[in-house]
Amino acid sequence: MCGIFAYLNFNISRERRYILEVLFNGLRRLEYRGYDSAGVSIDSSLCSSNAGVAPPSLVFRQEGNIESLVKSVYQDVAATDLNLQESFLTHAGIAHTRWATHGEPAPRNSHPQSSDAGNEFLVVHNGVITNYKVLKESLVRHGFTFESDTDTEVIPKLAKFVFDNANEEGDRRVTFSQVVLEVMRHLEGAYALIFKSRHYPNELIACKRGSPLLLGVKELTEEDNRASFNDSKFLSSNVEAKELFLSSDPSALVEHTKKVLVIEDGEVVHLKDGGVSIFKFDHAKGKGGETLIRPASVQRALSVLEMEVEQINKGKYEHYMQKEIHEQPESLKTTMRGRLIRGGSCKAKSVLLGGIKDHLKTIRRSRRIVFIGCGTSYNAALAARPILEELSGIPVTMEIASDLVDRQGPIYREDTTVFVSQSGETADTLQALEYALENGALCVGITNTVGSAIARNTHCGVHINAGCEIGVASTKAYTSQIVVMAMLALAIGDDTISSQARREAIIDGLFDLPKTVKEVLKLDQEMKDLAQLLIAEQSLLVFGRGYNYATALEGALKVKEVALMHSEGILAGEMKHGPLALVDETLPIVVIATRDACFSKQQSVIQQLHARKGRLIVMCTKGDAASVCVGGSCRVIEVPQVEDCLQPVINIVPLQLLAYHLTVLRGYNVDQPRNLAKSVTTQ
Ligand code: F6R
Repeated sequence: MCGIFAYLNFNISRERRYILEVLFNGLRRLEYRGYDSAGVSIDSSLCSSNAGVAPPSLVFRQEGNIESLVKSVYQDVAATDLNLQESFLTHAGIAHTRWATHGEPAPRNSHPQSSDAGNEFLVVHNGVITNYKVLKESLVRHGFTFESDTDTEVIPKLAKFVFDNANEEGDRRVTFSQVVLEVMRHLEGAYALIFKSRHYPNELIACKRGSPLLLGVKELTEEDNRASFNDSKFLSSNVEAKELFLSSDPSALVEHTKKVLVIEDGEVVHLKDGGVSIFKFDHAKGKGGETLIRPASVQRALSVLEMEVEQINKGKYEHYMQKEIHEQPESLKTTMRGRLIRGGSCKAKSVLLGGIKDHLKTIRRSRRIVFIGCGTSYNAALAARPILEELSGIPVTMEIASDLVDRQGPIYREDTTVFVSQSGETADTLQALEYALENGALCVGITNTVGSAIARNTHCGVHINAGCEIGVASTKAYTSQIVVMAMLALAIGDDTISSQARREAIIDGLFDLPKTVKEVLKLDQEMKDLAQLLIAEQSLLVFGRGYNYATALEGALKVKEVALMHSEGILAGEMKHGPLALVDETLPIVVIATRDACFSKQQSVIQQLHARKGRLIVMCTKGDAASVCVGGSCRVIEVPQVEDCLQPVINIVPLQLLAYHLTVLRGYNVDQPRNLAKSVTTQ
């Protein structure tokens, strides 16, 4: 969804151009979260903390991607006498990249949103304020006028209202954090917010509930300071110099610092005079037994980011999606690292998942295992469902998160619910998690984001460890999710002697998987040729069944979302119940017919499609090319055979490559597909 970012340099001289570039770079890193408009705010002139009210901050907002904003800012600067070389010893800037939810992409709906014409309070926001209409009506009654169609605009206006009221009541010492804590008390919904105010120059406030937000801290040495500014008049030897960053996710922090604080729900973080203070509402009992809600200060240690800058650069690749597809042999290795036990002379091969080992007994006693997720994460769970059913002997049901919540479907105390999410922040999945917690189920998280809301709020879980995924279309996270869930099945079934041979075969298969994926990636050129052939098509169907029903859904989703071509994944068993009507000699159809228990049924599907003159592309096991196309001619994609439950990991790779090449050849943006965003943190 949206991305928010802030940069505060304390006691280290930075030119205006430098500050702008740090903000722009932060936004470039977060652009995958939303890219239909963007904005920044910086100071118009030097102001010290003691100067009282600072001059109005400058606000730049632009429709389009980050580069459109950058261009317009420098054009605006050139048209005025604003000096890009002007230096600030301390300065606080904020920035935003938007994926529109309330109000079309337009400068007036972009952030920062403002309290008034004088920009007394400015806010950047990721999330949705659900009670904004009520707040807006009340603020209008108090004389506020609104410029935008956003839910966000109520926030800076509410801050001004709180500030003005406190001052009217003579409380001239109301602090920035007191203002924001009061604002927060009135907000409902999900949000991560950064506030900047003329009344509190060189300070920033961040707070969150539901949406992610991190603080990055970089302490600078005297040398850094000297290097940054040659004029020693700005050096202050006895006050430490610092750079502080706020960001929706770590990808915008890692190039600056690895020291981070993951801000928690309900917290208000105040950056002032180089210090960081954290506050949270505390519910205490008053003298008369009444509940008092008051802010209390919180002490928390910084943690260290486990991420390298290389992970967030494209390296030798042209696009993140391409890089992430080709990274899969490595990402699968990191997913399995330390978790597969080779066994020995008297010890069986096994799996160790530290995050759930203490809960295995409870899971084994569950009445049901319920997989819950959205989009690609749901598809990954669907791919793993048969092996989980087989090895656990427990009924496994599937739930699309939003649908479970809409239906308020039954979830019981005896259920194990498994929440699958790359980002760990998807609003629908989080809402389903809340629902499952309320119903007393055991909640297991499978996410790629350490410290994410799903990772924090589930009882136990397994990290995917696929590395940072930046391309909006999920690829390496999908294959790693399947592997994690296969390992989950192995761990749950570990106490069953009768399936030991099967489990050991799967573990052997897992060890070999990265190597086999590397082999499949050699199909790159073949998939590019196929993409060339399909470039002008309107539609593509993908037929799969059994383990590869999920592959059909996921392959079609990839083509649909990046190549902007209509594509449908179809359960081959349903072919005769409707989809067959679509078949003619023009519509391209991919049929997945690799060797497994469903192979002969898929052969029969191919024959029936041939009988209707279907235009077939068959994915089959290496060596089957000649025999698989009985009854007509077809184009064949040959893939290596692995254990049936791991075959979806292999089979999706050519389809990912096909989607990638189709997109590039059709001239669309691979990494930022139209209307989509990476983490969908609103409903
Ligand atoms: C498609 C895609 C989406 C996500 C879905 C859930 O390529 O990435 O379908 O899978 O929005 O996101 P997460 O996994 O972050 O919960």
